[in-house]
Amino acid sequence: MVNLIVDGKNISTTEGTMLLEAIRGAGISIPTLCAHEAVSRSGACRLCVVEIKKGNRTRIVTSCLYAAEEGLIVDTKSERVLNVRRLVMELLLARCPESEVLQKLSKELCVEPQARFIADSDKGKCVLCRSCVRVCEEVVGVSAIGLFSRGSHKTVGTPYNEKSDACIGCGACVYVCPTGHIEMFTTGDKRKIWGRTFKMKTCDTCGRYFAPVDQLKYISKKTGVPLKELAICMDCR
Ligand code: SF4
Ligand code: FES
Repeated sequence: MVNLIVDGKNISTTEGTMLLEAIRGAGISIPTLCAHEAVSRSGACRLCVVEIKKGNRTRIVTSCLYAAEEGLIVDTKSERVLNVRRLVMELLLARCPESEVLQKLSKELCVEPQARFIADSDKGKCVLCRSCVRVCEEVVGVSAIGLFSRGSHKTVGTPYNEKSDACIGCGACVYVCPTGHIEMFTTGDKRKIWGRTFKMKTCDTCGRYFAPVDQLKYISKKTGVPLKELAICMDCR
């Protein structure tokens, strides 16, 4: 176990725990966008910053990537922390002014859209957190999407914005996206995502459409489980 002080409160946590989890475990809230339990940490959004003190030195760190240390003094609401967090929030809002998630979060953090940053009108709701790219690569294992272009033109999508043969229509990217940027429509026997239309499979037991055929074929190939055994939805298992 390691012992630390967070906002004046003594807390203990197991070694290797990230500050974010240690702080939340103590009942203190920290705003986050990119820390999703399904994927590895990227430290992309920078909203989870806190101030740490070691000896006489203080510095700002991203709590989702910094492991708790014995004797660390952590401040989650110092003036320095709030200033960094507000600046990050202003930049995110300028990039995605239409995002309801960001609008709600900025209200909670008392941040108004600032005239000093020109609002983008073409980025949709994507904050470039990379969670969708990571889940596609790390969990699903197909790497159908990625980040393309550079600087302010960087976007998430399929290579060359074309239909990707690698995509299996599973929707894992939609599930992890914190802002609802990725569009997926499932109606009857069809699912549309990333410019492709996938045929859905009915459950052999209840008859409900429950997964794209391509996804089931992919799982069958990867795991060796016969396709027939995968033809039952989660509710009927
Ligand atoms: S689409 Fe969503 S998950 Fe993917 S990078 Fe953008 S905000 Fe993150
Ligand atoms: S949650 Fe830590 S950088 Fe996004």
